[in-house]
Amino acid sequence: MPSDETPAPRPPRVLDAVDSTTSVRANRSWWDGESQEYHREHGDFLGSDAAGGDFVWCPERLREEDARLLGDVAGKTVLEIGCGSAPCSRWLAGQGAHVAALDLSHGMLEHGLEAMDRLDHRRIPLIQASAEDLPFADGSFDLVFSSFGAVPFVADSARVMAEAARVLKSGGRWVFSINHPMRWMFPDDPGPAGLTVAIPYFNRTPYSEADADGVITYVEHHRTIGDRVREIRAAGLVLDDIVEPEWPDDLDREWGQWSPLRGYYFPGTAIFCSRKP
Ligand SMILES: C[S@@+](CC[C@H](N)C(=O)[O-])C[C@H]1O[C@@H](n2cnc3c(N)ncnc32)[C@H](O)[C@@H]1O
Repeated sequence: MPSDETPAPRPPRVLDAVDSTTSVRANRSWWDGESQEYHREHGDFLGSDAAGGDFVWCPERLREEDARLLGDVAGKTVLEIGCGSAPCSRWLAGQGAHVAALDLSHGMLEHGLEAMDRLDHRRIPLIQASAEDLPFADGSFDLVFSSFGAVPFVADSARVMAEAARVLKSGGRWVFSINHPMRWMFPDDPGPAGLTVAIPYFNRTPYSEADADGVITYVEHHRTIGDRVREIRAAGLVLDDIVEPEWPDDLDREWGQWSPLRGYYFPGTAIFCSRKP
Protein backbone atom coordinates (compact mmCIF):
# COMPACT_ATOMS: atom_id res chain seq x y z
CA MET A 1 0.00 0.00 0.00
CA PRO A 2 1.41 3.47 -0.83
CA SER A 3 2.57 5.42 2.20
CA ASP A 4 2.51 9.17 2.78
CA GLU A 5 5.73 8.93 4.76
CA THR A 6 8.88 10.25 3.12
CA PRO A 7 11.31 7.35 2.60
CA ALA A 8 14.44 7.43 4.74
CA PRO A 9 17.39 8.95 2.86
CA ARG A 10 19.81 6.40 1.42
CA PRO A 11 23.19 6.29 3.15
CA PRO A 12 25.90 7.87 0.97
CA ARG A 13 28.20 5.60 -0.99
CA VAL A 14 31.83 6.30 -0.23
CA LEU A 15 33.69 5.81 -3.44
CA ASP A 16 37.35 5.83 -2.38
CA ALA A 17 38.56 2.33 -3.21
CA VAL A 18 41.49 0.77 -1.37
CA ASP A 19 44.04 -0.77 -3.73
CA SER A 20 45.95 -4.07 -3.40
CA THR A 21 49.19 -2.55 -2.13
CA THR A 22 47.44 -0.59 0.61
CA SER A 23 45.26 -3.57 1.59
CA VAL A 24 48.27 -5.89 1.84
CA ARG A 25 50.35 -3.41 3.85
CA ALA A 26 47.51 -2.57 6.24
CA ASN A 27 46.38 -6.15 6.79
CA ARG A 28 49.88 -7.55 7.23
CA SER A 29 50.62 -5.16 10.04
CA TRP A 30 47.10 -5.52 11.52
CA TRP A 31 47.34 -9.33 11.71
CA ASP A 32 50.91 -9.15 13.03
CA GLY A 33 49.69 -6.88 15.83
CA GLU A 34 46.54 -8.91 16.47
CA SER A 35 48.06 -12.40 16.48
CA GLN A 36 48.39 -12.82 20.25
CA GLU A 37 44.95 -11.45 21.07
CA TYR A 38 43.33 -13.47 18.23
CA HIS A 39 44.75 -16.72 19.58
CA ARG A 40 43.96 -15.83 23.19
CA GLU A 41 40.32 -15.28 22.21
CA HIS A 42 39.76 -17.95 19.55
CA GLY A 43 42.67 -20.41 19.87
CA ASP A 44 40.71 -23.06 21.79
CA PHE A 45 37.78 -22.91 19.33
CA LEU A 46 40.16 -23.25 16.35
CA GLY A 47 42.40 -25.90 17.87
CA SER A 48 45.46 -23.68 17.37
CA ASP A 49 46.90 -24.82 20.67
CA ALA A 50 45.81 -28.46 20.47
CA ALA A 51 48.18 -31.25 19.44
CA GLY A 52 47.58 -31.94 15.75
CA GLY A 53 45.44 -28.80 15.29
CA ASP A 54 41.79 -28.94 14.21
CA PHE A 55 39.88 -27.94 11.06
CA VAL A 56 36.91 -25.64 11.70
CA TRP A 57 35.43 -23.87 8.66
CA CYS A 58 33.52 -21.10 10.45
CA PRO A 59 32.09 -19.67 13.70
CA GLU A 60 29.11 -22.04 13.16
CA ARG A 61 31.67 -24.75 14.10
CA LEU A 62 31.37 -26.82 10.92
CA ARG A 63 34.32 -29.21 11.02
CA GLU A 64 36.01 -30.73 7.98
CA GLU A 65 35.97 -34.04 9.84
CA ASP A 66 32.15 -33.99 9.47
CA ALA A 67 31.64 -31.95 6.30
CA ARG A 68 34.35 -33.54 4.11
CA LEU A 69 34.24 -30.66 1.63
CA LEU A 70 37.78 -31.52 0.50
CA GLY A 71 37.00 -35.21 0.05
CA ASP A 72 39.59 -37.84 0.81
CA VAL A 73 42.84 -36.01 1.61
CA ALA A 74 45.23 -38.89 2.33
CA GLY A 75 48.22 -38.71 0.01
CA LYS A 76 46.95 -35.47 -1.64
CA THR A 77 49.00 -32.32 -2.13
CA VAL A 78 47.19 -29.44 -0.39
CA LEU A 79 47.70 -25.67 -0.19
CA GLU A 80 46.04 -23.50 2.46
CA ILE A 81 45.71 -19.79 1.69
CA GLY A 82 45.49 -17.34 4.61
CA CYS A 83 46.29 -20.11 7.09
CA GLY A 84 46.89 -17.94 10.17
CA SER A 85 48.66 -20.26 12.61
CA ALA A 86 47.63 -23.19 10.38
CA PRO A 87 45.49 -25.37 12.71
CA CYS A 88 43.57 -26.63 9.63
CA SER A 89 46.73 -27.60 7.78
CA ARG A 90 48.17 -29.28 10.87
CA TRP A 91 44.98 -31.35 11.12
CA LEU A 92 45.16 -32.29 7.42
CA ALA A 93 48.78 -33.39 7.84
CA GLY A 94 47.55 -35.75 10.56
CA GLN A 95 45.10 -37.21 8.00
CA GLY A 96 47.98 -38.07 5.65
CA ALA A 97 47.87 -35.02 3.34
CA HIS A 98 51.05 -33.31 2.07
CA VAL A 99 50.35 -29.75 3.09
CA ALA A 100 51.85 -26.30 2.51
CA ALA A 101 50.28 -23.30 4.22
CA LEU A 102 50.59 -19.64 3.28
CA ASP A 103 49.80 -16.40 5.08
CA LEU A 104 50.62 -12.72 4.80
CA SER A 105 51.40 -12.25 8.47
CA HIS A 106 54.65 -13.28 10.08
CA GLY A 107 53.04 -12.97 13.52
CA MET A 108 50.30 -15.48 12.64
CA LEU A 109 52.77 -17.92 11.07
CA GLU A 110 55.10 -17.68 14.06
CA HIS A 111 52.28 -18.83 16.34
CA GLY A 112 51.86 -21.88 14.09
CA LEU A 113 55.59 -22.70 14.12
CA GLU A 114 55.66 -22.51 17.90
CA ALA A 115 52.58 -24.77 18.18
CA MET A 116 54.03 -27.35 15.77
CA ASP A 117 57.35 -27.49 17.65
CA ARG A 118 55.69 -27.69 21.08
CA LEU A 119 52.72 -29.94 20.33
CA ASP A 120 53.16 -31.84 17.05
CA HIS A 121 56.94 -32.40 17.03
CA ARG A 122 56.85 -32.07 13.25
CA ARG A 123 56.64 -29.14 10.87
CA ILE A 124 54.67 -28.45 7.73
CA PRO A 125 56.05 -25.78 5.38
CA LEU A 126 54.71 -22.30 6.17
CA ILE A 127 55.16 -19.59 3.54
CA GLN A 128 54.87 -15.84 4.03
CA ALA A 129 53.28 -14.40 0.87
CA SER A 130 50.12 -12.72 -0.41
CA ALA A 131 47.27 -14.71 -1.90
CA GLU A 132 47.24 -12.49 -4.98
CA ASP A 133 50.64 -13.88 -6.06
CA LEU A 134 51.02 -17.52 -5.09
CA PRO A 135 54.71 -18.54 -5.22
CA PHE A 136 54.03 -21.99 -6.73
CA ALA A 137 54.26 -23.52 -10.18
CA ASP A 138 51.15 -24.25 -12.25
CA GLY A 139 49.38 -27.50 -11.39
CA SER A 140 51.17 -28.09 -8.07
CA PHE A 141 48.23 -29.10 -5.84
CA ASP A 142 45.30 -31.53 -5.70
CA LEU A 143 43.43 -29.27 -3.26
CA VAL A 144 43.52 -25.57 -2.40
CA PHE A 145 41.43 -24.14 0.42
CA SER A 146 40.97 -21.18 2.72
CA SER A 147 39.08 -20.99 6.00
CA PHE A 148 38.23 -17.30 6.42
CA GLY A 149 41.73 -16.61 5.12
CA ALA A 150 42.77 -14.06 2.54
CA VAL A 151 39.66 -13.79 0.32
CA PRO A 152 37.79 -11.06 2.28
CA PHE A 153 40.97 -9.05 2.79
CA VAL A 154 42.31 -8.66 -0.75
CA ALA A 155 41.39 -5.87 -3.16
CA ASP A 156 41.55 -8.19 -6.18
CA SER A 157 39.78 -11.39 -5.15
CA ALA A 158 39.25 -12.35 -8.81
CA ARG A 159 43.01 -12.65 -8.96
CA VAL A 160 43.05 -14.97 -5.95
CA MET A 161 40.54 -17.23 -7.75
CA ALA A 162 42.74 -17.19 -10.86
CA GLU A 163 45.82 -17.98 -8.77
CA ALA A 164 44.06 -20.85 -6.98
CA ALA A 165 42.97 -22.24 -10.36
CA ARG A 166 46.48 -21.88 -11.77
CA VAL A 167 48.22 -23.85 -9.01
CA LEU A 168 45.54 -26.59 -9.01
CA LYS A 169 45.89 -29.79 -10.97
CA SER A 170 43.09 -30.67 -13.34
CA GLY A 171 40.29 -32.28 -11.30
CA GLY A 172 41.42 -30.50 -8.12
CA ARG A 173 39.16 -28.57 -5.73
CA TRP A 174 39.24 -24.94 -4.54
CA VAL A 175 37.08 -24.51 -1.43
CA PHE A 176 36.93 -21.33 0.65
CA SER A 177 34.83 -19.98 3.51
CA ILE A 178 34.07 -16.27 3.95
CA ASN A 179 31.59 -14.00 5.71
CA HIS A 180 28.25 -14.57 4.04
CA PRO A 181 27.91 -11.60 1.64
CA MET A 182 24.49 -10.66 3.03
CA ARG A 183 26.09 -9.89 6.43
CA TRP A 184 27.61 -6.81 4.78
CA MET A 185 24.25 -5.04 5.10
CA PHE A 186 24.12 -5.24 8.90
CA PRO A 187 26.15 -3.55 11.65
CA ASP A 188 28.87 -5.82 13.13
CA ASP A 189 26.85 -6.35 16.30
CA PRO A 190 25.97 -9.78 17.72
CA GLY A 191 22.86 -8.38 19.46
CA PRO A 192 19.52 -6.98 18.23
CA ALA A 193 21.24 -3.94 16.68
CA GLY A 194 22.85 -6.41 14.26
CA LEU A 195 19.44 -7.33 12.83
CA THR A 196 18.69 -4.01 11.13
CA VAL A 197 19.94 -3.23 7.62
CA ALA A 198 22.37 -0.31 7.55
CA ILE A 199 24.49 -0.62 4.37
CA PRO A 200 23.36 -1.40 0.81
CA TYR A 201 24.23 -4.95 -0.23
CA PHE A 202 25.40 -3.60 -3.59
CA ASN A 203 27.89 -1.13 -2.11
CA ARG A 204 31.32 -2.65 -2.83
CA THR A 205 33.21 0.17 -1.11
CA PRO A 206 35.63 -1.61 1.25
CA TYR A 207 35.36 -1.25 5.01
CA SER A 208 38.56 0.35 6.30
CA GLU A 209 39.98 1.74 9.51
CA ALA A 210 42.66 4.44 9.77
CA ASP A 211 44.92 5.80 12.50
CA ALA A 212 45.07 9.42 13.69
CA ASP A 213 47.33 10.32 10.74
CA GLY A 214 44.86 8.90 8.22
CA VAL A 215 47.03 5.86 7.46
CA ILE A 216 44.81 2.87 6.67
CA THR A 217 45.34 0.13 9.28
CA TYR A 218 42.71 -2.51 8.36
CA VAL A 219 40.67 -3.32 5.25
CA GLU A 220 37.87 -5.73 4.37
CA HIS A 221 36.47 -6.00 0.84
CA HIS A 222 32.91 -6.94 -0.09
CA ARG A 223 31.58 -8.87 -3.09
CA THR A 224 28.01 -10.01 -3.68
CA ILE A 225 27.12 -13.68 -4.15
CA GLY A 226 26.85 -13.02 -7.90
CA ASP A 227 30.30 -11.37 -7.95
CA ARG A 228 31.78 -14.47 -6.31
CA VAL A 229 30.12 -16.83 -8.79
CA ARG A 230 31.45 -14.75 -11.70
CA GLU A 231 34.99 -14.61 -10.21
CA ILE A 232 35.03 -18.39 -9.87
CA ARG A 233 33.72 -18.97 -13.40
CA ALA A 234 36.13 -16.38 -14.86
CA ALA A 235 39.01 -18.39 -13.34
CA GLY A 236 37.89 -21.39 -15.42
CA LEU A 237 36.48 -23.25 -12.41
CA VAL A 238 33.16 -25.05 -11.98
CA LEU A 239 31.06 -24.08 -8.94
CA ASP A 240 29.64 -27.21 -7.28
CA ASP A 241 28.01 -25.81 -4.16
CA ILE A 242 27.62 -22.86 -1.81
CA VAL A 243 27.32 -24.23 1.72
CA GLU A 244 25.51 -21.98 4.23
CA PRO A 245 26.09 -23.62 7.64
CA GLU A 246 23.21 -23.23 10.08
CA TRP A 247 23.82 -22.19 13.66
CA PRO A 248 23.78 -25.36 15.83
CA ASP A 249 21.24 -25.49 18.68
CA ASP A 250 23.93 -26.38 21.21
CA LEU A 251 26.37 -23.58 20.29
CA ASP A 252 26.07 -20.54 22.55
CA ARG A 253 29.51 -19.08 21.92
CA GLU A 254 29.72 -15.72 20.15
CA TRP A 255 32.53 -14.76 17.78
CA GLY A 256 32.52 -11.01 17.13
CA GLN A 257 29.35 -10.34 15.14
CA TRP A 258 28.47 -14.08 14.96
CA SER A 259 25.95 -15.04 17.62
CA PRO A 260 23.14 -17.54 18.24
CA LEU A 261 20.63 -14.69 17.82
CA ARG A 262 21.80 -13.67 14.36
CA GLY A 263 22.57 -17.24 13.34
CA TYR A 264 18.92 -18.11 13.98
CA TYR A 265 17.72 -15.55 11.42
CA PHE A 266 20.30 -15.55 8.62
CA PRO A 267 23.56 -17.16 7.53
CA GLY A 268 26.91 -15.85 8.74
CA THR A 269 29.18 -17.93 6.52
CA ALA A 270 29.27 -19.00 2.88
CA ILE A 271 31.56 -21.82 1.76
CA PHE A 272 32.19 -21.90 -1.99
CA CYS A 273 33.07 -25.34 -3.35
CA SER A 274 34.57 -25.34 -6.84
CA ARG A 275 36.72 -27.56 -9.01
CA LYS A 276 39.08 -27.32 -11.96
CA PRO A 277 37.75 -29.32 -14.92
C1 LIG B 1 40.53 -14.60 10.19
S1 LIG B 1 42.21 -15.11 9.95
C2 LIG B 1 41.94 -16.79 9.55
C3 LIG B 1 43.14 -17.63 9.76
C4 LIG B 1 42.90 -19.14 9.96
N1 LIG B 1 42.22 -19.73 8.87
C5 LIG B 1 42.14 -19.32 11.23
O1 LIG B 1 41.00 -19.78 11.20
O2 LIG B 1 42.72 -18.98 12.26
C6 LIG B 1 42.61 -14.37 8.38
C7 LIG B 1 44.03 -14.60 7.92
O3 LIG B 1 44.16 -14.13 6.56
C8 LIG B 1 45.46 -13.59 6.42
N2 LIG B 1 45.51 -12.70 5.25
C9 LIG B 1 44.97 -11.47 5.12
N3 LIG B 1 45.25 -10.96 3.90
C10 LIG B 1 45.99 -11.89 3.25
C11 LIG B 1 46.60 -11.95 1.97
N4 LIG B 1 46.51 -10.95 1.10
N5 LIG B 1 47.30 -13.07 1.63
C12 LIG B 1 47.43 -14.11 2.52
N6 LIG B 1 46.87 -14.09 3.75
C13 LIG B 1 46.17 -13.00 4.12
C14 LIG B 1 45.71 -12.89 7.74
O4 LIG B 1 47.09 -12.66 7.95
C15 LIG B 1 45.09 -13.87 8.73
O5 LIG B 1 46.04 -14.78 9.23
